Amino acid sequence: MIKNDLFLKALKGETVERPPVWMMRQAGRYLPDFMKLKEKYDFFTRCRTPELATEITVMPIRQVGTDAAILFSDILVVPQAMNIEVEMKPGVGPWLPNPVRTLEDVHQVIVPNIEETLGYVLDAVKMTKQELNDEVPLIGFAGSPWTILCYAVQGQGSKNFDIAKKFCFTNPQAAHLLLQKITDTTICYLKEKVKAGVDAVQIFDSWGGMLSPEDYQLFSWKYIQQIIDALKGDTHVIAFGKGCWFALDKMADSGASALGVDWTCSPEMARHLTGGEITLQGNFDPSRLYSPPAEIKNMVHEMINAFGKDRYIVNLGHGILPDIPVENAIAFVEAVKEYKVS
Ligand code: CP3
Repeated sequence: MIKNDLFLKALKGETVERPPVWMMRQAGRYLPDFMKLKEKYDFFTRCRTPELATEITVMPIRQVGTDAAILFSDILVVPQAMNIEVEMKPGVGPWLPNPVRTLEDVHQVIVPNIEETLGYVLDAVKMTKQELNDEVPLIGFAGSPWTILCYAVQGQGSKNFDIAKKFCFTNPQAAHLLLQKITDTTICYLKEKVKAGVDAVQIFDSWGGMLSPEDYQLFSWKYIQQIIDALKGDTHVIAFGKGCWFALDKMADSGASALGVDWTCSPEMARHLTGGEITLQGNFDPSRLYSPPAEIKNMVHEMINAFGKDRYIVNLGHGILPDIPVENAIAFVEAVKEYKVS
């Protein structure tokens, strides 16, 4: 039994005294203790060393007080396991020296054995669960197939992922083959994470908003739906599509336990689009954490009033920014803990 079960209750749609709170990208990025580890160990060493991944995962629980932990790792360990080289260049971000650009390239991509290639993530899950000692739930995650394709084809981050989109629209057969391989891998990966102990999983579709509503269904949602279907009964799935408010109505009928919302969609609009039944998660503008703590607290209370305290998980609308003062992140979390129904 998890002692603080607010997050799991919200995922089940149960009544809570206050909503749970966690922050996307809370593990790493802005905490001073993380920065010290970052100086000592490179990115993938941090991901591949269960002791380090555990330490970084637990940091925000101890130092900021969130109601759920998210495993320290990255969405790009999945393409790495699929035979696509991924580097993390300091100051640049993800760098893939041999991007996937042709059908022949797609044929080189494998659907790997998860225990052999990503066993270190499963070890990190087990170690983190032990360290957390059932205080709060642990969230596992994966990128959406579309978002992984974006990096695999583009080869690096991008403002518009033009090369990735060109690949999909000029070579749809190769694109769908790649998306299916990523989907198959992701399903096995998330199932293994659940077996290792995660209490829920989130799918990050960070670049879904790059697509038109029609193409979103074709190239992104279709594959996320496969993942949700495959995990049904195993665990709770949270689907987060950045910039994907236009698809919220379809997402609400998918079997996902909760949907992430970014800050460009108002709480009222998000509730309206999703029919008012499903749990929603979000949607504080990450840049608003630069505001003074007192202002943050007022805005958080207004946000909870707008979403309603039930069927709601307080979060940011995207990942926390690296230079947010820790006291502002703490004010965000405290505001939720101080919340009283007005
Ligand atoms: O939520 C958490 O704190 C858990 C850890 C986590 C990381 N990445 C650690 C990380 C999670 C959930 C991710 C997801 C991720 N990774 C996404 C989806 C969420 C989003 O922000 O849209 C994406 C698109 C990536 C790809 C990625 N990894 C990028 C673009 C970068 C570089 C820029 C950045 O965000 O800092 C990374 C590197 C990365 N992943 C870092 C961390 C802490 C920073 C590099 C470092 O620590 O050396």
